[in-house]
Amino acid sequence: MAMTTTAKKVYIEDLSENGADYLGKDVTLHGWLYNKRSSGKLHFLQLRDGTGTIQCVIFKGDVSPELFEAAASVSQESSIRVHGTVKEDKRSTLGFEIGVKEFEVLSPSVDYPITPKEHGVAFLMDHRHLWLRSSRQHAITRIRAEIIRAIRAFFDERKFTLVDAPIFTPNACEGTSNLFETQYFDNMAYLTQSGQLYMEAAAAAFGKAYCFGPTFRAEKSKTRRHLTEFWMVEPEVAFLDLEGDMDLAEDFVAYIVQAVLKNRRAELELLERDISKLEAVQAPFPRITYEEAVAILKEKGHDFEDGDDFGAEDETIISNHFDRPVLIHRYPSAMKAFYMKPDPENPALSLNVDMIAPEGYGEIIGGGQREESLELLLTKIKEYGLPEEAFSWYLDIRRYGSFPHSGFGLGVERTVAWICGIHHVRETIPFPRLMERLTP
Ligand code: 4AD
Ligand code: MG
Repeated sequence: MAMTTTAKKVYIEDLSENGADYLGKDVTLHGWLYNKRSSGKLHFLQLRDGTGTIQCVIFKGDVSPELFEAAASVSQESSIRVHGTVKEDKRSTLGFEIGVKEFEVLSPSVDYPITPKEHGVAFLMDHRHLWLRSSRQHAITRIRAEIIRAIRAFFDERKFTLVDAPIFTPNACEGTSNLFETQYFDNMAYLTQSGQLYMEAAAAAFGKAYCFGPTFRAEKSKTRRHLTEFWMVEPEVAFLDLEGDMDLAEDFVAYIVQAVLKNRRAELELLERDISKLEAVQAPFPRITYEEAVAILKEKGHDFEDGDDFGAEDETIISNHFDRPVLIHRYPSAMKAFYMKPDPENPALSLNVDMIAPEGYGEIIGGGQREESLELLLTKIKEYGLPEEAFSWYLDIRRYGSFPHSGFGLGVERTVAWICGIHHVRETIPFPRLMERLTP
């Protein structure tokens, strides 16, 4: 197999970005056959190289009969090498095509399982490792990568320090009902649900810190919004109150959306995303209390028990009331985690905030101001039946120079689902982990 590499490798993306530099010149491209159509003296091969797709035209009169024959029988997803001249092609979105001079099948692909016909979701999920090659999945994954780049850029530009949180942990941060437990030598450990507790320690060490990594929840619910392994970015800031936390969350989400609009517009178009809806995502976002959100539900005649947490349907109704993400703050403390600071004006409420994405994509952010009093926190840990021993290190943050602080966590997959306009989070992560899916 001749895996030829040239001095400077050319990618299809280079042609789309600097096509004029290549016009009339010969290039060599390596990739896979995405699609093919023939008509008498011509073969039209769609070459996919991971950065884009380009039409390669083989004219019978330009090549040897053997080469023309080889092109006739090349099958979908065979790896191929094409050498030819870059020509203008006004009909394609790329604007260019290749007039082929040389063509070689590097390795064949026999009976590729994903054909242009329709396949069921279960079949596609079983073949996720191959499905990633499809144009839709490719677009989603590239938007995800851009969202992650923007996440890092936002906090790095604001001089937050990246502090990695551990994945094995003795602490239940977000309740004890959905923990993954695992043997850790002679003890048991949990897979982390959130890096927050560690970021609170980091806020005292660095002032502004964030972590970004996978988090785990044994979610027994099979919904379009739940994964058992998902990625979360969690900033935490010392001497920041709930208002400041909401300002940060709002600037952050607007920044991410604008970055995708700027850098991944072609992918959004491929997904047929309504771009005008994303363009509306500019700060400030509406801010309403839990109570006001409940009033919206009641006003729409929706059956809702006061004091409950919002379910998927409730979130959809609330989000449809606004044209951009909405911040809902001050939920009843009883439904919230042990670390939430009560509102001094009404201790039955928490100084917490959730951000609900527009168009029914659900909660993308959860966060708030943390309890800074050692005594109150100890009481809460007991009240919630959490093991005091495991939280001893965490309480040190209150023992040694306690300080007001706030932060939040943004779930990457729900954010990708919303920005891409995809119904189910299983398509927003390269290899999703769901209650009933551990492969591929
Ligand atoms: O609201 P959550 O549970 O908040 C926390 O974990 C806080 N400790 C974060 C913090 O303040 N540092 O989760 C935060 C976000 C949710 O808003 C949602 O976007 C996402 O994480 N999320 C999930 N995404 C996919 N699948 C799941 N099972 C998720 N659970 C939460
Ligand atoms: Mg939440």
